[in-house]
This record gives sequence, C-alpha cells and structure tokens, in this order.
Amino acid sequence: MPLKDSIEAVRSEFRAALGSFPDNPQDVESLRVRFLGRKGAIAKLFAQFAQVPSEEKPRYGQELNRLKKEITEQFNTAVAQQQSESGSAQETSFDYSLPGYPFRLGKNHPLTQTLDEIKEIFTRIGFSVAYGPEVEDDFHNFQALNIPEHHPARDMQDTFFIEKNIVLRTHTSNVQIHLMEENSPPLRYIVPGRVYRNEAISFKSYCLFHQIEGLYVDRQVTFTELKGTLEYFIHQLFGPDAKIRFRPSFFPFTEPSAEVDLWNEERNQWMEILGCGMVDPAVFENVGYDPAEWHGYAFGLGIERITMLKYHIQDIRLFYQNDVRFLEQF
Ligand code: DAH
Repeated sequence: MPLKDSIEAVRSEFRAALGSFPDNPQDVESLRVRFLGRKGAIAKLFAQFAQVPSEEKPRYGQELNRLKKEITEQFNTAVAQQQSESGSAQETSFDYSLPGYPFRLGKNHPLTQTLDEIKEIFTRIGFSVAYGPEVEDDFHNFQALNIPEHHPARDMQDTFFIEKNIVLRTHTSNVQIHLMEENSPPLRYIVPGRVYRNEAISFKSYCLFHQIEGLYVDRQVTFTELKGTLEYFIHQLFGPDAKIRFRPSFFPFTEPSAEVDLWNEERNQWMEILGCGMVDPAVFENVGYDPAEWHGYAFGLGIERITMLKYHIQDIRLFYQNDVRFLEQF
C-alpha cells in the first residue's frame, strides 16, 4: 500500500477507535500502544516513510507529523475527558454524613479567663468596669494617693520612669483618682489593667503584671461592707471552702488598711492575694470630695497571683512565654 493510503488507513482506524473509547485503564493503555507505542501504527508509518524517494520526503514528512500530532492530541483529550467524568462520579458518591475533621479552636489566655470571671462576679453585685492610663503622671500614680515625694512608701514599688514626672503606672490605684476627678459620688467601680514594676524577675515577680482595683464611694460605707464584699468575691472565685483571713497592713491611700490571705493547702501556708482598706480622707481631699460627707473602700488584687493559686501554677513567667503546651491546659 502506498504511504499516502497507509496514512489515511491509520487515520480512519483511529477515528473508529475513538468512537468506542474504552473505559478501563488497561484497554486505554493498549489503545495508546496500538497507535503511539514504539511498535505502533505511527511507528510503522515512519518505517515505511524511510523507503520513500527523497524528493517526496518533505511532503510525507509533514503529513506524517501532522497525523502523529493529531492522534496524540485526540487521545489525550479523550483520556482527560474520561478522568474528569469519573472524577465527578466519585464526588457525587461522597458520603456527606461522615463526621468532619475537628477544628482546633483558640482559647482565651488564662489571665483573661480569670479576669473575665472576676469582672463577672463584681458586675453581678453592682460594680461597673472602668479603665485608665498606663502612662501616668506623678500626681495620679503617687501624690494624690497620699504618697508624697521622698515618702518611704514609694520604695514599696520600683518605678519605671518615662520622664521626670511621667511613669509607667505601678498600680491601678491611679484610676481611683481619675474616677473621682471625673465623677461625682456615689461610685462603684472595678478597674482592670496592666501595671509595671522595675523588679528583679523571678518565679514570682515580673516587670509587668495585671491588677484589678476596686473603689466604692458613698455616704455610709463601713469596713464590714468591704469585708463582706471581699469574702463573697473570694468564695465565688475559689469555692465556699476557701479559707481566708484579714490581716492589718499599711497603704498610704487607705486607713485602716488590711491585706487578705488565702490558705494554700499545697504549701501549707497563707498567701497574700489582695490589699484593701477604707479610703483615706486625705485622698478625698485631693480630688475635692468632702471627707465629712463621703466614705469609701478600695482594694487592689493581682490577677497573676490569683490565677497561679487557682490553677497551681508555680512560675509567673509562664504567662508571658506564649508556649502552647502551657496555654492549651486552660
Ligand atoms: N495599690 C496597691 C499595690 O499595688 C494595692 C492596693 C492596696 C490597692 C490597698 C488598693 C488598696 O486600692 O486599698 O500594692
């Protein structure tokens, strides 16, 4: 058969094969071998091509290459089409009732969890939540709280200075002053916030930590109310069996002052968890409240300290390392 006819024969043979394209992979592969394999129909045409006289070679060469390209492309198209059809068949048989993969949900930081719990307890009994500045002037952080310059009480808190009279607040008590400057009594607030101290870092001290300040001002406020409120709070947070004691103490902005200790079973010792007292009349005078008319109590507690006691955490630095192995446990 002349090469011209052989080419046409292969072309129509391949068309016929495409018309009944096989659907199992082995048959597809043998179809490929039959036409495009090393000993397939195309290869045979090229063998025949070797025999044609050289003046006819360019014409047949082009013709043959076209046929090879045509068959290769049509074959690949048929295979791709078949795969996409079987792919969609698989999709429709997907089992939508299978349980999904679990999502890893983030959680609040343990300090945020404690803070949220504390806020919840106090707002339930009528306290509002307020916030104040972390960069503070000497007046609000110290003077107005009855801590004059050169007073030894300043040594209780190692201070970071921004400028001569501007500090990173050493406690949230500064917000007591802002609240009283901006509102007329009565008032009842808790104030969560970050505070800073230039202390040697250890398992129990860090250069920053969190406090919640409480301030209650009204016409008739007694130490008994302060005691009852704090006892209620601690029993809400640590359970009804928590053992606590009030111990006389000193703070320049309260008189009398006390500290509250919580009994720690593990260590077999009292742990201090907060400071408190009746607002000192000198503080009321500094904000223009008449101390003959207004009375109040205040308290301040450390959120890290309380979280450590609640969850038996031994090192305060763990709160600031963002190690998921630690954070995942809460
Ligand atoms: N500001 C005190 C501190 O950081 C804690 C404190 C004690 C706050 C007694 C108070 C308070 O409001 O009445 O150590």
